[in-house]
Amino acid sequence: MRKINIFDTTLRDGEQSAGINLNFSEKLEIAYQLERLGVDIIEAGFPAASKGDFNSVQEIASKIKDSSVTGLARCIQKDMDAAWEALKVGAEPRIHIFLATSPIHREYKLKLSKEEVLRQAVESVKYAAARFPIVQWSAEDASRTELDYLAEIVEAVIQAGAKVINIPDTVGYAAPVEYGNIFKYLREHVPSIDKVSLSAHCHDDLGMATANSLAAVEAGATQVEGTINGIGERAGNVGLEEVAVALHIRKDYYNAQTNMQLHEIKRTSDLISKLTGVSIPPNKAVVGQNAFAHESGIHQDGVLKEKTTYEIISPDLVGLSSNAMVLGKHSGRHAFKSRLEQLHLDVTDEEMNRLFVQFKELADKKKEMTDEDLAALVLEEKLSK
Ligand code: KIV
Ligand code: ZN
Repeated sequence: MRKINIFDTTLRDGEQSAGINLNFSEKLEIAYQLERLGVDIIEAGFPAASKGDFNSVQEIASKIKDSSVTGLARCIQKDMDAAWEALKVGAEPRIHIFLATSPIHREYKLKLSKEEVLRQAVESVKYAAARFPIVQWSAEDASRTELDYLAEIVEAVIQAGAKVINIPDTVGYAAPVEYGNIFKYLREHVPSIDKVSLSAHCHDDLGMATANSLAAVEAGATQVEGTINGIGERAGNVGLEEVAVALHIRKDYYNAQTNMQLHEIKRTSDLISKLTGVSIPPNKAVVGQNAFAHESGIHQDGVLKEKTTYEIISPDLVGLSSNAMVLGKHSGRHAFKSRLEQLHLDVTDEEMNRLFVQFKELADKKKEMTDEDLAALVLEEKLSK
């Protein structure tokens, strides 16, 4: 099986979400939890951005031992120097530098020609590689860059010393097959491509970040970047919990594995939600409150007979103790009886018949039947005799 490195940018791209501002100790707490989760690389921040970012990147680099720690820098010396000062305390200092390559960014943001962008990228990679054992270079807005130019600049930065090449879908614009094809193209047209690890970095503007990241893995990416709960700029980054669980559940298809300790997912997700104040939508894949809840009678009956009928992810895989049978108007007799047994509410068959009718009548008026509702129904039934 191929090993896929997981690069977590919750503390950098994730913190770029509108309204999120983590303090020093919160960032450290998150970094420790990401280490427990087993991510390979933690992007701890952007050292040149502020004194606060610099300090937290430095602290995380000095404390975290089981994940590699990196920091972001633009392709300018002052940023790379700040990154070096913050990261040199780490066991294996690693820098992540980026420069936009797309025509839109070259013309309107950078006001640089193709040749000038290529030169700046190469010079920066050389400067970084003279200090850092590992240099990751990102072609910002890669998915809207001319393929032949992308291949040319990627070859040039590999020759200059880059060890990881990241191909971001910066604005979440690419479609899955199209994004996968960029990786395929690079593998076929960049002579030195086998010397580096190719990385996917997807944003979710069109809701395709997970599909795009997985398409990149299929097309040869060996690193996936993202955040926990998918927080990040605008509509966010890919949720790493989704990618890791998809690769695990469908290892028959992807033939790839990660180092992620999946049972730490729920704890990590809850921590990020609590510290950022960003709540998790109930229907969110893998970590949403309803991700393991079965409501309809047909589904509940199936799951009670055999879980795999409607449950492809076992809740304990991601650190949840059990699935939830939400009792409501769609629930069947099997689920109702089973919940009464769990609650040790003993009823005869005759009582059960009457109770089930009353349950359905009440459930029609309520969104969800709680354990207290069931206990009250049983009590009333017992008292009515
Ligand atoms: O989305 C993006 O392009 C980025 C880069 C800085 C890697 O976050
Ligand atoms: Zn990004």
